[in-house]
Amino acid sequence: MASHRVAPRRHSLLRRAVFRTLELGARALGGRAFYRRFWLARGRLVLREEVLRIPGLDPRWHGFTLAQLSDLHAGPFLARGDLAPAVELIGQRGIDLLAITGDFLTHRMEDILLVIDDLARIRAPMGRFAVLGNHDYRGRREPELIAACARAGIRVLVDEAVSLERAGAKLWLRGIGDLEEARLLDPMAGAQAIPQDEPDILLAHHPRAGRSCVRARTLAVLSGHTHGTQIDLPLLRRLGPAHPGLRYRSGSALVVVSRGLGVVGVPLRIGAPAELVFLRLECA
Ligand SMILES: [Fe+2]
Ligand SMILES: [Fe+2]
Repeated sequence: MASHRVAPRRHSLLRRAVFRTLELGARALGGRAFYRRFWLARGRLVLREEVLRIPGLDPRWHGFTLAQLSDLHAGPFLARGDLAPAVELIGQRGIDLLAITGDFLTHRMEDILLVIDDLARIRAPMGRFAVLGNHDYRGRREPELIAACARAGIRVLVDEAVSLERAGAKLWLRGIGDLEEARLLDPMAGAQAIPQDEPDILLAHHPRAGRSCVRARTLAVLSGHTHGTQIDLPLLRRLGPAHPGLRYRSGSALVVVSRGLGVVGVPLRIGAPAELVFLRLECA
């Protein structure tokens, strides 16, 4: 489905060398501990509540709550144990379902092992689901990443949909491959399995999916990728991918763009704190 695809951002060798040098320097100076203390600790991490009031929602889905984690970027600045405050906060809040919207890692597939144990501790009675982000295709080892997730009880959705049931009422969860990096992409394949009158929630790393991959009955699209610009200052905010805002409407769907939890390049966020998103459905 070429019309849905977004051209990958490819940076020059010079620019990549500058970023890599910055990253190595920040790492040597204790960047990970700095990031953990100032952005991932309790009281620093932002808990963002999104309440979606839906006309005609089956009352059996009233109160359904999911937690969205995005852009963990395990590797230089986020590793084993750093997600513990987020995991505890989710446990205290209580959720029905966990949704992880990609960029588990920054450089190496193995780095998912740094966060998988923390993710496996999150209690979500209706399941833990994920989609891949552009960084997750590094080395083209996504089958290994998907297998590591499966061992931890996290199901990665690739252009497919699963049905969820609450007291007999159905809602679908759809997930698509990354619009920039997936080699084979058929983002509407999952939609074909869903009866026309049944609602769905879409997980898609790239926020552009909110414009091109919704159905008439899609309630919400959960995405990430932009880190909320990560450093929200003039000129610098343009270094990252285009950020459409924290939320926008596409037809009847609310598109949520998470600022995510991790970072790339430097262990720094300005005007774009790390966050957990809680999405709650309510009858209008
Ligand atoms: Fe990211
Ligand atoms: Fe991304």
